[in-house]
Amino acid sequence: DVATGAGGEFADGVRRELRLVEARLQDAAKGHDRLVTEMAGHIIAAGGKRFRPMLVLLAARFGGPVPDDRLVDAAVVVELTHVASLYHDDVMDEADLRRGAPSANSRWGNLQAILVGDFLFSRASSIVAGLGTDFVAVQADTFARLVHGQIAETVGPARGEDPLAHYLQVVADKTASLIATSARFGAMVAGAPVATAAALTDFGEEIGAAFQLSDDIIDVTSDDTGKAPGTDLREGVPTLPTLLLGEAPEDRQLRDLIAGDLSDQARLAEVLGRLRAHPVIDRARDEVARRAEVARGLLRPLPDCEAREALFAMCDQVVTRTS
Ligand code: FPP
Ligand code: MG
Ligand code: MG
Repeated sequence: DVATGAGGEFADGVRRELRLVEARLQDAAKGHDRLVTEMAGHIIAAGGKRFRPMLVLLAARFGGPVPDDRLVDAAVVVELTHVASLYHDDVMDEADLRRGAPSANSRWGNLQAILVGDFLFSRASSIVAGLGTDFVAVQADTFARLVHGQIAETVGPARGEDPLAHYLQVVADKTASLIATSARFGAMVAGAPVATAAALTDFGEEIGAAFQLSDDIIDVTSDDTGKAPGTDLREGVPTLPTLLLGEAPEDRQLRDLIAGDLSDQARLAEVLGRLRAHPVIDRARDEVARRAEVARGLLRPLPDCEAREALFAMCDQVVTRTS
């Protein structure tokens, strides 16, 4: 883990940059009054992996030297956008818990949570404006993909559409898009060569999809995510484990249970228990490993350096993480 593990000049440098990102994030979430500041800082202060800012910092190592303020701004833009989307997501998913803390909607209600998400997105917008119109254009396209992904998830597959293909498109748009943009921003801010920037963007798209697939498995398998387990099941959102269920009688029976009302805790717990013991979990994990391997392959043409090693390590993390 670059952020907490090895020493050396490289790791120390990344850690220093991450500290600057933290400080700038706190500052960016300040509103015009105490309530807005408290609400906007709430999910940022609750923690998070800072996966996207880390990707910005690592991707920037593939270009030339970058002034701290531009590098940090690029990292802060993607994290603010992510956090903004979480405020909205928790309203849509009726989630009470986020990063181990009460979600904003459960503390202050849906209306405030939506508006605070908008506020954080406005902060991301003003910071990205300072980076240049090329960054604004990428940010705007990414925002559109986030929204399209979320809308597609809400609407579900069209009649006759393959549910698995629909799910994978949702994952690409609602999650991989911003992770690809994180890698792209790092490359852009450091003026990396065009081919390098393209490879990093493709890498971000692939590892981003793997990241969401693992997140969706963990929604089923873990009691330790800082979120309520089984939220996707309860909300009727199909994900890789449930989409892999087949036509065998016991699979059909489980699918019927999943399609039913899971607002009752005991029923949800029963479905969770059965899914956890089902071979679809291992098959879903195999798919994450496969996608992480594709992501690794996209890094191979890049210069062999410590940043590339750290990106390889991120691939391992996506496969092995359990919470
Ligand atoms: C989390 O998915 C949600 C997303 C990755 C994207 C949500 C996008 C929007 C709400 C639209 C964009 C809005 C703004 C203001 C940028 P999940 O519910 O599967 O993950 P979870 O388990 O962490 O809740
Ligand atoms: Mg959610
Ligand atoms: Mg959601």
